[in-house]
Amino acid sequence: MSAQGAARPLALGDLATKKDARDPIVMVTAYDHPSAQIAEQAGVDMVLVGDSAAMTVLGYPSTVPVTIDEMLMLTKAVRRGLSRALLVGDLPFGSYEASDSLAVQTAQRFVKEAGCDLVKIERGGTTVERARAIAAAGIPVVGHVGLTPQSVTALGGYRAQGRTAEAALAVIDDALALQEAGCALIVVEAVPSEVTALLVERLRIPVIGIGAGADADGQVLVWHDLLGIYDGPAAKFVKRYADVRAASLAGVAEYAREVRSGAYPAPEHGYGMPADEVEKLKELLAGR
Ligand code: KIV
Repeated sequence: MSAQGAARPLALGDLATKKDARDPIVMVTAYDHPSAQIAEQAGVDMVLVGDSAAMTVLGYPSTVPVTIDEMLMLTKAVRRGLSRALLVGDLPFGSYEASDSLAVQTAQRFVKEAGCDLVKIERGGTTVERARAIAAAGIPVVGHVGLTPQSVTALGGYRAQGRTAEAALAVIDDALALQEAGCALIVVEAVPSEVTALLVERLRIPVIGIGAGADADGQVLVWHDLLGIYDGPAAKFVKRYADVRAASLAGVAEYAREVRSGAYPAPEHGYGMPADEVEKLKELLAGR
C-alpha cells in the first residue's frame, strides 16, 4: 500500500483528472529496484527511468552515450519495484530520431521488454513526427521541451531555455506540436516560470516541470539530486531533501575503520559450531 493509501495502478486518465483538479502530479526518476520500491512506498505518481542514468549511475559524461540495452536493463529493474505508479521509459539518443519505424520499434521494446506505460522522447522538430508515429502505434508518449540534454551541445550547454520572447515562443510551439501529434504529457525543463504558466494555460495535456517553476501540473526531480547522492554542484532548481552521499560515505568509512581495527565482525555477526563438533573436526584433521 502506498503512502497515498491506494493500491490501484494509476492510469493516464488519473493524470488528466489531477490536472483538472489542480492536484500536482509527483514524478521522480529512478534507476534500480530498491529506489523504485522507495518511490512507490512514498506514493509518487510516476517514475521516469531517465537517460540521466547515463550520468547518475553509469558514469558517462553526458546522456548521449547510454545505449538501448543499458536503459532496458535499468528500466526492467524499476518495473519490478512498481505496482501503482506509472512507469516512463526514456528512449536514448540515437534510438528514435532517424525514422518513424525506428522510433516505433524502440518504443515497442521499452513496452514489451521493460513493461513501460509511456515512453519519453526529446525536442520538437522532427521528433514531432516520431511522437505521432509512436502514439499511432498505441504507445503513450511524453514529449520533452526546453532544455533537452540529448542536444546539449547544440543548445550551448546546460542552461535555461526560452528566456527571450522568440525563444519562449519556440518552446511553446514545440509543446503544442507534440500535443497535436498525440503526446499524453509534456516535460518542460529549465524555462522561466512565466513561460511555464503560459504553456500550461494553452495545453490540454499535463505539463511536468523541472526547473520550470510552480505553475506546472506536476514536478519531476532526478533521484540523485533530490537525495543528495550526486557529487558536485547541482542545478539552480534542485532542492536536496536528504544527504544520502554524506550518510553513505560515513557508513562505508566506519565499516573500513572497524574491519581494520578488528571491531567488525563481532561474535554476534558470525555462525557458531558445537564444541564437540569442533573437537571431532580437529581429530579428523589430525588423522590425515
Ligand atoms: O533523463 C532524465 O532524468 C530526464 C528528466 C530530467 C526529466 O529527462
